[in-house]
Amino acid sequence: MAKDNTQIVIRPAGEADIEGILAIVNAYAAENLMLPRTAEQVRRALPGFLVAEDGQVVGCGSLVPLTPALVELRSLAVAPEWRGTGLGRLLAQALVERARQAGYQQICALTLVEGFFTRLGFATVDRWALSPKIWHECIYCPKFDACDEIAVVMNLAGEPAADPPAGPDAALWRRLRVGPAATW
Ligand SMILES: CC(C)(COP(=O)(O)OP(=O)(O)OC[C@H]1O[C@@H](n2cnc3c(N)ncnc32)[C@H](O)[C@@H]1OP(=O)(O)O)[C@@H](O)C(=O)NCCC(=O)NCCS
Repeated sequence: MAKDNTQIVIRPAGEADIEGILAIVNAYAAENLMLPRTAEQVRRALPGFLVAEDGQVVGCGSLVPLTPALVELRSLAVAPEWRGTGLGRLLAQALVERARQAGYQQICALTLVEGFFTRLGFATVDRWALSPKIWHECIYCPKFDACDEIAVVMNLAGEPAADPPAGPDAALWRRLRVGPAATW
């Protein structure tokens, strides 16, 4: 059954959201679906984080600048009860929009859910074609010797902004408060 997202707001994250972000991300990390994060890692990346909340954090995702032209979409996740409701897509689209407004030419991700990203307009690429900067955290990764992540990229430069969603997601999209790109 469709979940009612009328109380959901997508907004930039603050210090008070760190615990909620960690709860979602590290629960999936325990299932090997994502990489684990510490409070310190999230705190450092906080200016690039958006959260979806309905009083408590139910989704998150972040932008991590890799080069002046390339930004990585990282730590995208929605709470289990919200999976499959379109919230992940809205969060990803909000992050893509934020990256576009900040002037990045490309946005990339390393992911196990290739199909989710290709539906959004990302293209699968040879992971070695990406900037080496994307690998700077790999030495800390538990899967360093057996990486199974797929690289996806979307061009932003010169591309028109995506159409706003229709139907029940339209109202949530209008309530997006992704904040000025210059703040991160
Ligand atoms: C991946 C995740 C963020 C997607 O969010 P979601 O709210 O469940 O997905 P949505 O309902 O927005 O789905 C959007 C579209 O992607 C598709 N999709 C969702 N999960 C998918 C998956 N695992 N593989 C392929 N396609 C997927 C949906 O079918 C939907 O397709 P449609 O537009 O044709 O209807 C969420 O399921 C999640 O938190 N997963 C666990 C953590 C994780 O794997 N994060 C990704 C790290 S890169």
